[in-house]
Amino acid sequence: MSDPAQAPVGDAPAAAGGVIVVKIGGGADPGPVLDEVAERAAAGLPTVLVHGGGAAADRLADRLGVRREVIESPDGTHSRRTCPAMITVLTMALLGQVKPQLISGLTARGVRAVGLCGADGALVTASRKTAIRSVREGRTVLIRDDRSGRIEHVDPTLVRLALERGNVPVVSPPAGDAAGNLLNVDADEVAARLAAALDASALVLLTDVAGVLADPGDPSSRIPEVGPHHLTGDVVRGRMRHKVRAGLRASRTVALVTIAAAHRERPIRRALAGDGTWVREGGRHG
Ligand SMILES: Nc1ncnc2c1ncn2[C@@H]1O[C@H](COP(=O)(O)OP(=O)(O)OP(=O)(O)O)[C@@H](O)[C@H]1O
Ligand SMILES: [Mg+2]
Repeated sequence: MSDPAQAPVGDAPAAAGGVIVVKIGGGADPGPVLDEVAERAAAGLPTVLVHGGGAAADRLADRLGVRREVIESPDGTHSRRTCPAMITVLTMALLGQVKPQLISGLTARGVRAVGLCGADGALVTASRKTAIRSVREGRTVLIRDDRSGRIEHVDPTLVRLALERGNVPVVSPPAGDAAGNLLNVDADEVAARLAAALDASALVLLTDVAGVLADPGDPSSRIPEVGPHHLTGDVVRGRMRHKVRAGLRASRTVALVTIAAAHRERPIRRALAGDGTWVREGGRHG
């Protein structure tokens, strides 16, 4: 088979033509993704970029002296504890650091990029989680003042407008709620819900690992495809759990959903050629 990274951009496998939603994690080097998004934009292929920023938020929290904590839910999912100070840090990191860097990186590549957060144009509306279960030293405690939210609604109007104008929308958390608060929502979940709302042909979750790994310590242990049963087992733990859960949800309506590495040449094309982990709610791919 020919090398997918060398093929011309118009030949993107399977998902060519439709909107593609690409999510990039905060820890990954964005250079190769931005190169490929710029190529796609130049070829008139509609692409939405969604980003997280966990690593940048952690660094900023440390510099500002805001304590970081991880919530471990009873099902083994790990999430950021978003105390009132942390939602401010997170907003500063995502909208003040990560997003403008991505936008200026795209601008330098000749792309007109438009930054949007969940609160812009009611793009992502969430409801605050008023009681979060957290396992601490074997005991389950309830956290009531957290500023994280459950996504209730996605309104893709502004994203569509940007795409119609040939711009690349760059979308990030936080979300807004009905009372005017900013809430932390998972960027993978934002990407998944947006992909469904846009009727996207593909959702590409790019991260700092090659896909879902059978052994997170062994980069060569990539699993080619995951389904719902992987969430009941022990393999998909920690932060990867959010990604798989979000991907599974999107795969109900989005034909191609994959988790793959961001830090290599033409990562979108490689991911869509199968060099990652397909996420599929029902049965095998193909
Ligand atoms: N089974 C697994 N396979 C692969 N990675 C795993 C697994 N279990 C846990 N992980 C962890 O999940 C991480 C990827 O999720 P993480 O939330 O750190 O990145 P991201 O979602 O790309 O970035 P961001 O959260 O900033 O958007 C990997 O770096 C790895 O440490
Ligand atoms: Mg993550």
